[in-house]
Amino acid sequence: MHLIKLIFKYLRYLIVAKTRYSIHSPFVFKFYSDIILSDKHFYPFDSIAKVRQALLKNQDEITITDFGAGSMFNNGKKKKISTIAKNAAKPEKFGKLFFRIIEETQAQNIVELGTSLGLSTSYLASANKNANVQTLEGCPETAKMAQKVFNSQQLHNIKITVGNFDDTFPSVLEKIGRIDFLFIDGNHQYEPTLRYFQQSLPYIHENTIIIFDDIHWSDGMEKAWKEIKENVNVSVSIDLFFVGLVFFKKGQVKEHFILKY
Ligand SMILES: C[S@@+](CC[C@H](N)C(=O)[O-])C[C@H]1O[C@@H](n2cnc3c(N)ncnc32)[C@H](O)[C@@H]1O
Repeated sequence: MHLIKLIFKYLRYLIVAKTRYSIHSPFVFKFYSDIILSDKHFYPFDSIAKVRQALLKNQDEITITDFGAGSMFNNGKKKKISTIAKNAAKPEKFGKLFFRIIEETQAQNIVELGTSLGLSTSYLASANKNANVQTLEGCPETAKMAQKVFNSQQLHNIKITVGNFDDTFPSVLEKIGRIDFLFIDGNHQYEPTLRYFQQSLPYIHENTIIIFDDIHWSDGMEKAWKEIKENVNVSVSIDLFFVGLVFFKKGQVKEHFILKY
């Protein structure tokens, strides 16, 4: 039932999503054309793709500690690395998009909620080797595997904090003092998603970009996304269906875009 509903939502998105020719905002037009639609290749893409392939073949099992939506079912269960890589990691297309955003904006303070095996983090960290990438993960064994992934790529600008986001996110925010780029990819439920957004607000600035994963995943996530778009601090929001982007640029007319990707 859930899958059928999601397919319908996606079909509706395909019908209503606009192309660049309907964008009147010069800022959004440029961001969409130069960053979202860009097919520019960067050399770390090849090495991250190789790491993904290796993880997809890895038959080793780890014990899962899950604080998110699946906590009632998955805690203490063993899972194959290959299964985690297949089900949890954001597809390459989105990793490349996050890379291009960070490369273009030169974001320095980057925070990710939901490391998993570290594939999305690898894109974030290799886009700006001088950036401070803070990635948060609840499952200790998954985080250990992610650290191996970072070591294998010589990515030394990443700090993993292990624990429930509810505890770790406020303290990481306090430590870094400012967010340039935030990717929320874990605990996809209404209340925590909205709470993490609200907790981040004292640390944002005009050029901060926040990306939410799975904004159409459930009614709760759609409700959270709606409230986030309507928040007074948000000027521009872009719905690419599988992710939603929010911007806080001053001097922009408040506008929401549903764009093809
Ligand atoms: C979808 S996966 C992240 C995928 C990763 N960003 C990628 O694209 O490669 C979500 C991760 O968030 C973690 N997680 C979910 N809820 C959490 C919570 N409340 N506290 C800490 N970790 C949590 C899960 O353990 C899982 O590894």
